[in-house]
Amino acid sequence: MSKNVLILPGDGIGPEIVTEAKRVLDLVNEQCSLGLEFTTALIGGSAIDAEGVPLPASTLDAAKAADAILLGAVGGPQWDTNPDFQIRPEKGLLGIRSNLGLFGNLRPAILYPQLAHASSLKPEIVSGLDILIVRELTGGIYFGQPRGIRVKEGGIREGYNTYVYDENEIRRIGRVAFEAARQRGKKLCSVDKANVLEVTVLWREIMEELSAEYSDVELSHMYVDNAAMQLVRAPKQFDVIVTGNMFGDILSDAAAMLTGSIGMLPSASLDVNGKGMYEPCHGSAPDIAGQGKANPLATILSAAMMLRYSLDAGEVADKIEAAVSQVLDQNLRTADIMSEGMVLVSTSQMGDAVVAALKG
Ligand code: IPM
Ligand code: MG
Repeated sequence: MSKNVLILPGDGIGPEIVTEAKRVLDLVNEQCSLGLEFTTALIGGSAIDAEGVPLPASTLDAAKAADAILLGAVGGPQWDTNPDFQIRPEKGLLGIRSNLGLFGNLRPAILYPQLAHASSLKPEIVSGLDILIVRELTGGIYFGQPRGIRVKEGGIREGYNTYVYDENEIRRIGRVAFEAARQRGKKLCSVDKANVLEVTVLWREIMEELSAEYSDVELSHMYVDNAAMQLVRAPKQFDVIVTGNMFGDILSDAAAMLTGSIGMLPSASLDVNGKGMYEPCHGSAPDIAGQGKANPLATILSAAMMLRYSLDAGEVADKIEAAVSQVLDQNLRTADIMSEGMVLVSTSQMGDAVVAALKG
């Protein structure tokens, strides 16, 4: 039975990195007779330019119909000045996450041993690093109402957002995290700001309640400021981290950098049935777009996660991950992970190398 994969290249470096991931997917599709069929649609700034909105109805329909979605990145300075917040590229991404109910965001931060020297931290602090950040993706302050910019007394403008989670939203992401921890090192650290924010007092309570069902998983709690510090001080103390939308956004960028480059980090965003959208954790990097400098590995690894979680092809995912490790063994590096003695390659040369490794 064929499966439909929707490709959303997006903006900036999005199209370049997605091109390389698509080449990898085309190859394994043929090699392993996966029966994947691909369609492409617009999102973000490129959709604004073509259709006036960041998430055209045709894209949303295609996303709903697809078995899985692979996204590049959205955003760029040319769209940042639009005073209408609804016509920003990021709204396309947030819209697809929320319309598809992709609440469970898995962001693994794994240090490839070959890249220990590319990390800004000492090799002994990061070697062997293997963390999973589970970020709630469709709630919290990103989506809370009311929100906006209003004029208060005296003509003073005031910006406001609402940080809100109900217990069902917390429980649902908590279960994803406990289940993930159960499959891994059996340690879960829930990150909150329960010393200040009531919404996270409830978050902590629900995590405690859930832990009764997962007695094999050791639950701990940490305030987000401390978690940021601990991530750069002693990151290997963590196994799985679970947190809300905004804290997860921030901590996952920090965790990404531990691995040498944010250009290495894939992610999965899953709904209640395991259908998902897969994207690199990095953004659209408009400053290097179109120059062949971007690292396609996070997107290639996102394609691997897609095969594993949504397309029932875990062995093919293993093969792709092994191929990525192999190209790193060959000392090939894009600029973001370049270090002395290594061979600098372009986006497409990195793609070539992964394809060659898969061909064996
Ligand atoms: C991410 C990004 C997005 C987010 C932006 C582009 C809206 O930073 O996926 O981490 O904040 O969620
Ligand atoms: Mg982010």
